[in-house]
Amino acid sequence: MADLTTKLGSLTLQSPIMPASGTFTDELAQVFDLGLIGAHVTKTITAETRGGNPTPRVCEVAGGMLNSIGIPSKGVDYFVDHVIPIYRQWDAPLVVSISAGTADDFARLCARVSQPGVAAIEVNISCPNIEEDGKAFAMRPETTIRAMEALRAASDLPLWAKLSPNTGQTVEVAQAAEAAGADALVVANTLLAMAIDVDSRKPRLGNLMGGLSGPSLKPITLRMAYQAARSVSIPVIGCGGISTLQDVLEYLIAGAAAVQVGTASFREPAIMPRLIEELAAWMDAQGIASLPELIGSVRDDEASDAMIYAEAAP
Ligand SMILES: Cc1cc2nc3c(=O)[nH]c(=O)nc-3n(C[C@H](O)[C@H](O)[C@H](O)COP(=O)(O)O)c2cc1C
Repeated sequence: MADLTTKLGSLTLQSPIMPASGTFTDELAQVFDLGLIGAHVTKTITAETRGGNPTPRVCEVAGGMLNSIGIPSKGVDYFVDHVIPIYRQWDAPLVVSISAGTADDFARLCARVSQPGVAAIEVNISCPNIEEDGKAFAMRPETTIRAMEALRAASDLPLWAKLSPNTGQTVEVAQAAEAAGADALVVANTLLAMAIDVDSRKPRLGNLMGGLSGPSLKPITLRMAYQAARSVSIPVIGCGGISTLQDVLEYLIAGAAAVQVGTASFREPAIMPRLIEELAAWMDAQGIASLPELIGSVRDDEASDAMIYAEAAP
């Protein structure tokens, strides 16, 4: 049987498949054994209690969905006291996703969630930075560095920086996150998008715009995961539009050491254990003993640096 373990810096996961933040809770234990997946990734939390965005917060579009959930949060104290302990029953590492509006607030929250039982912190730097007119930290290398340096100083736990597909500077932002001390990159979050109801002529989301996720996002985030993996030496975790074994394989071959599954879990709550089984069966059939044979095996020898690190469609 193929060895599905994958190394993300100091962490070894028993499988490369884990949930994407915001699409997973421990309630999925009613559907499948949560011990089967590589890690448990929580929905992003903030320091304070927050409501979410105006409704409607989700709508379906061709090839995916839009969401503008916002980050409703019961606050960090509730999370530390009531949520972290729930995950102690499983061996899979717990990854806590956090967000804040300034680098200093981010760092304080990071220190607070650096608790026993937390294996890594996913830092959602794709969220708006209120000191930069609401532009996400991960839009630019300079703001990425500022946030990541503050976060790095606040915790000894592995930090996973979650990038944004809205940037035109994927390589620079990936390298900035690595230089400032990120242990892994999650590539990527949702893409800013919009839908309009033609009868009412109203935007279909209460918040006007939201994030595109699902299959239509995949070619974009796959391209970003590939560019990031080519330009940093820390592990890349692919995320965006995964719903089939083919999608998982593409990310691994592009250079991702693990992947996250989001929107597809809404349609098929037990998709993660199915993909794990299919990956193992496919590797056995191909005679591939372990993931390093697959990760980053894309045949791009003919490609120039200009092609690999392109920032515009040729
Ligand atoms: C309903 C919903 C809520 C989400 N909430 C978060 C969140 O709290 N934090 C975060 O970093 N990403 C959040 N995301 C983004 C996902 O983690 C993921 O990056 C994105 O959906 C792309 O993956 P997918 O196409 O497999 O869904 C959310 C996505 C959806 C659909």
